[in-house]
Amino acid sequence: MPAVIKPWPAWHEFTEETKIYTQDPDFARIKQEVVSQYGKEAICESWLKTCRALEAVTEDIAAKEGDFIPVFEASYVINQGFTESETRRIKEIGCLIVHQVISEDEAGYQYEKLQEYISNNQEHIRGWPLENPSMLRLYDSPTQIAIRTHPNHLQLQRKLNELWHDTSGETNSEPLLYSDGIRDRKPRSPFLGLGPHIDAGSLCRWGDTTYRKAYHHIFSGNPELHDTFDLGARKDADQFLFSGAAHSRVFRSFQGWTALTSAAPRAGSIMLFPHVQMAIAYILLRPFFKPPESTEDLMDASKWKFDPDSAWFPGTFKDQSQYLSRSSHPHLRLEECLIPSPSMRPGDSVWWHTDMIHAVDTEHLGEENASVVFIAACPTSPVNKGYVKLQLQASLAGRPPPDYELGAGNLNETAFIGYTGFEGLRTEAKAALGFDLPM
Ligand SMILES: [Fe+2]
Repeated sequence: MPAVIKPWPAWHEFTEETKIYTQDPDFARIKQEVVSQYGKEAICESWLKTCRALEAVTEDIAAKEGDFIPVFEASYVINQGFTESETRRIKEIGCLIVHQVISEDEAGYQYEKLQEYISNNQEHIRGWPLENPSMLRLYDSPTQIAIRTHPNHLQLQRKLNELWHDTSGETNSEPLLYSDGIRDRKPRSPFLGLGPHIDAGSLCRWGDTTYRKAYHHIFSGNPELHDTFDLGARKDADQFLFSGAAHSRVFRSFQGWTALTSAAPRAGSIMLFPHVQMAIAYILLRPFFKPPESTEDLMDASKWKFDPDSAWFPGTFKDQSQYLSRSSHPHLRLEECLIPSPSMRPGDSVWWHTDMIHAVDTEHLGEENASVVFIAACPTSPVNKGYVKLQLQASLAGRPPPDYELGAGNLNETAFIGYTGFEGLRTEAKAALGFDLPM
């Protein structure tokens, strides 16, 4: 049985152009820039190829059971790495599960410590959504620091960074740590805030010339040549060209979280679109085409009209992540292809490529809190070094990480009851936190 999400959650559908696009000249200007650079012919060629390729991809996803996402044991990955065929599969799918990065007992202990930290400092912790906060703006709790810097975790981050390649000599796979928040979601708390989306910016993918260069083959008529693991141009892309609380400045080779409690489909977990190359090609090409008049022709890509003049980028808002919906992005067949990640135990982790479509489960029908620490894999690169340095300075000065200043307000965890900072960490952990970077 295909992994169909039914009923489809009441996520926003991006059905029509709104005035934000025509009022802000950047949208039309950026579209014109891309058209002038690559030309109608190449963009149309790519559109047809991408939609054709997506047919096979989405058939494949829709036809398979829930075991579509590769699953590994952390000890295996750390000790042996990935075989060639595993690497091929991970690169195609773009996401994976890694069991027991920390042990179940350790995860349980860390969750208890976290709950104590939260309850001791409740009045100073912000979260969202405001009416029923589950995403907590906490970055340096002893639990987060212990898991981020755990030797297994750092080893695994290194292995994931190694999947990317770059010949510039300016990057390497040594992990740098990105401070992100926590989710602690109570059972039966609905959440519609994070429908299908990709992070790492929105309009900047088209607007920043370096970011655009990372997708050169997609705009040039050759989406099949797009290498989703090429760090060459991507390492310098400006994900924060248009600032916003949703955007990270740091480059994450894989976003990820590590479970502190059990996770399961329909229990506050994550959903993923397990293919990355053609999905990102489709997202990037979609604004250049207008759907056919007849809904019967909707899935026939050749009936879509090249549309260089409208200012509409469906699901694109400068300060938010790039959103997708069934009606605006029909060829993704999101209803059939956005699949729940498999059940996980405390200490297990899920990882998804920086361009991967994902969504947070709208339901939580489980019996206990669904709690995770967001921990990504970030390679060493000039941009990442610059950010991690600022992040460390902020932490030491009792400020939130730079990417979270907008949402976290005057958060000062150094004054929290139970704050232990970076005391007693190993050399490797301190390097990943940026202590060796010139300040
Ligand atoms: Fe996200």
